[in-house]
Amino acid sequence: MDEQPDYSPLRLGESVPRFSARSTQGHVDLANYLGRWVILFCHPGDFTPVCTSEFIALARATDQFVQRDCALLGISVDSLYSHLAWIRQIHDMAGVEISFPLIEDPSMEIARAYGMIGAQAVDAAAVRSTYFIDPQGILRASTTYPATVGRSIPEMLRLLCALQRTESGEALAPADWQVGNDVLCVPGETAQDALRPGDRSSWFYSFKQDSL
Ligand code: BEZ
Repeated sequence: MDEQPDYSPLRLGESVPRFSARSTQGHVDLANYLGRWVILFCHPGDFTPVCTSEFIALARATDQFVQRDCALLGISVDSLYSHLAWIRQIHDMAGVEISFPLIEDPSMEIARAYGMIGAQAVDAAAVRSTYFIDPQGILRASTTYPATVGRSIPEMLRLLCALQRTESGEALAPADWQVGNDVLCVPGETAQDALRPGDRSSWFYSFKQDSL
C-alpha cells in the first residue's frame, strides 16, 4: 500500500500548512500574508444556495474585516473558471463584488492538509470549515459547520475581534462579548491570589472596563 501523507487535524496553537494556489485575485501564497490576520474558509461548492448566501453576506462585510487588518481567503475544490462564473453571477444577482481571493483546490491538496475533508475522501464534500490564523501563521480558532447551515458573519467578526483583543494575554473575552464591552480579568494562580482579603467571592471572576 502507498504510504499516506500525514493529514491529522490541525490543532489550535499549531502553525498552519503553507500553500500557494490560483485564485480569482491572482496567485495566492499564504506566506505573503504573514503579519496580518487571515480567515481561511472553505465551502462545499460553487453555485449552491447556502454558499451563495454566505458569499453575499461576506461581500457586504468585507470592509469590516479589512479594517481589522484581516484578509479573507475563500477556498473550494471548484475550478478557477467555476469560481469566476459564480462570482460574476453573484454580482449580477445581488450587486455585490467578491473582492477577496477565492482559491481553487481541484486536487484537494489544501483541503486535506487542513482537514477540511477526510484524508481518504474521494469526492469534494468539504464542510464549512473556517480557520482564524494569526499574523505569525498560528491557528487561533476554527469552526466547522455542516453543508446545510450557513455561517454567521457577525459571529466570524466577533470571534476575530475577541482573538485580537485577548492575544496579549491580559484580558479574557466572556460569553457574548462584543467590542467595547467589559472584559474578564485573568485570574491569579496562587493561593495568595485566591485568599486576598475582600476578593473571596470573585477572585476568579471579575470584570474590568475595556480601555482599548
Ligand atoms: C449549499 O450551499 O446550499 C449546499 C452545499 C452542499 C450541500 C448542500 C447545500
